[in-house]
Amino acid sequence: MYFRQLLNDETACASYLLGCKTYRQFAVVDPHVDLVDRYIALAEGQGMPIVAVFETHVQADHVSGLPELVARTGATAYLPEGAGVDFEHHALGDREVVKLGNTELQAIATPGHALAHHAYLVTDRTRAQEPWLVLSGDALLAGDAGRPDLHASGEETVDSMARALYRSLTDRLLTLPDHVLLYPAHYSGSVCGRGLSANPATTIGFERRHNPALQHDSEDAFVQALTSDIPPAPEQQAAILKANRSGSPIAKFS
Ligand SMILES: [Fe+2]
Repeated sequence: MYFRQLLNDETACASYLLGCKTYRQFAVVDPHVDLVDRYIALAEGQGMPIVAVFETHVQADHVSGLPELVARTGATAYLPEGAGVDFEHHALGDREVVKLGNTELQAIATPGHALAHHAYLVTDRTRAQEPWLVLSGDALLAGDAGRPDLHASGEETVDSMARALYRSLTDRLLTLPDHVLLYPAHYSGSVCGRGLSANPATTIGFERRHNPALQHDSEDAFVQALTSDIPPAPEQQAAILKANRSGSPIAKFS
């Protein structure tokens, strides 16, 4: 399996280029609009086509590179079902698997930061029949859980989103074995979490033991902590969300 993490320090966003070189299928997860040339150059350098582009959720803090990547490569867009976007895509259900040759991504519904949010559990069949790593989006970060307020609206209150996230963590991500590598969508400097590490790579086990958001002994305590001291919302959040839902390749926003 080929796997590279690409960072955008301006917005503290992590994105991923991965796939199978044997079957010549690469994918990008959570692409940043400013890194589209780099994803394509890296894939071309490996002689591999980008055939799939995944979002863990519709991002509210930066413009996605998905529309431009899809337009330039012809890749299929994959988003969690219910993402509410206005462009053609494959809506992934919970537990659905997308095979990229020997590399497989399984969608794990992990609502709470956003209602439509998937983590992607990655298995490299050339190494093992069990998952090696998880791309956790904004559900679980290195040092915090994702903020519950950015996508809350109407009946989905900040409190109910935080409760959904608690269940996503306890019932889903934290049921994974400790050795599973965890790669989040953000790191230190991002407004999407508090006290995030500047190291955007961790493990399920390390976060289970040392992530302050995972040390609470009840759902209420988790919710109380997660809904306190929430950082300011990203600048131009509404315009960024609108751009990311539109899917226009020219929706680059500044
Ligand atoms: Fe987010």
